Amino acid sequence: MRRQIVHEGADQLTYEIRGIVAIAKQVRACGVDIYWENIGDPVQKGEKLPDWMKAIVSELVTDDTTYGYTETQGLSGAREFIAGQVNRRGGAQVTSNDIIFFNGLGDAVARMFGFLRREARVIGPSPAYSTHSSAEAAHSGYDHLTYTLNPQDNWMPDLDDLDKKIQYNDSISGMLIINPDNPTGSVYPREVLEKMIAIARRHQVFVICDEIYASIVYNGARTASLAEVIGERPGIALRGISKEFPWPGARCGWIEVYNQERHPMFKRYVNSLINAKMLEVCSTSLPQYAIPRIMGDPRYPAHLEQRCRMYERRVNSAYDILKDVPGITVVRPRGAFYMTVLFDPGVLKATQHLDIPSAQARALIEQKVQGVKPDKRFVYYLLGATGICVVPLTGFCCEREGFRLTMLESDETRAHMIWNTIARSITRYLESA
Ligand SMILES: Cc1ncc(COP(=O)(O)O)c(C=O)c1O
Repeated sequence: MRRQIVHEGADQLTYEIRGIVAIAKQVRACGVDIYWENIGDPVQKGEKLPDWMKAIVSELVTDDTTYGYTETQGLSGAREFIAGQVNRRGGAQVTSNDIIFFNGLGDAVARMFGFLRREARVIGPSPAYSTHSSAEAAHSGYDHLTYTLNPQDNWMPDLDDLDKKIQYNDSISGMLIINPDNPTGSVYPREVLEKMIAIARRHQVFVICDEIYASIVYNGARTASLAEVIGERPGIALRGISKEFPWPGARCGWIEVYNQERHPMFKRYVNSLINAKMLEVCSTSLPQYAIPRIMGDPRYPAHLEQRCRMYERRVNSAYDILKDVPGITVVRPRGAFYMTVLFDPGVLKATQHLDIPSAQARALIEQKVQGVKPDKRFVYYLLGATGICVVPLTGFCCEREGFRLTMLESDETRAHMIWNTIARSITRYLESA
């Protein structure tokens, strides 16, 4: 090659949530049944879309117009519907021009970081959702910059840490919030969000808030949307249908842009996202036709409510099983559908192990654990010994050791078996050395 063709940020593109799948497939080839607790796809875990939603989509499929392109920013009817919803929240007011559709939030995130000036950094939470942290790191060519979420404070953001990090690093131009959060399941009260916006205001940075789990809030949590707290700051909220219909395979999400008219530079940045979309023509059409009809259906609020109650029950059962296991800390989730299990500092050792019945799987795991982080070592042993596939916390841009499991198993008996097996395996592993 006459030139280096690899982008400076290429090594930053890691996605442990799917990375673990390659190992799990090798374990499966050794004859071990795998329980996929790594990926946030409710459909893959057995959740069924209500028949009335499927009927709406079926009807749309018979309409030829749904097979065409949409306008670049997205279908005007869908954007008007979303803008109406934003405006009813009573905070920042938008028009359909402030709504831009993408092929899922994965696409939106890649564009948003891809079209940010390289020196302009965005600070995000740690633990971090890898799509954001990897995209930001890849765009800048440096490790992702993070502020701490504190497990001793229900995984709330350490506001002092956030404030100081922005103050002492003037390349930081944006603040990323994920509310409700993946991987911790925490939900930020309005006051916490207001304090974060006050920090953004003090340092003149813009705010991105990933609200893909906004409709999955339970256990009495109260929160606010970014639109309600953003005030006059430039801000972008990210929303989609992957988790709330749930229809992740639709690859459909959108951004809501707040206050672009007040901030010319921010407006230019948003325009660059639209121009980039223009080169691509538009995002997937069919789900955009479905959005106003499904979200505007009188059955939709009950659908969301029923799912919140379902996750609440599940999360509380898992929490009750795990909360008293020695050597770990779990915080009761209040939103989204994940739980983070944190190992107490110093309990993990390089000599610990689990008995792996399959000799072939044992040989594989013993080879794979060489030189890996202590929590990954546990995750690999858990996989080999029980087939349960979770994601190590150090894969979420985080120094703390632990793992994330999903709360998506729709077979209750199987879910209880998985949580009980995890609880027993933690105890056995920690006692093994
Ligand atoms: C916080 C968060 N944002 C975005 C996404 C991705 O959403 P989409 O399916 O729209 O790409 C996920 C998926 O797990 C997520 O957890």
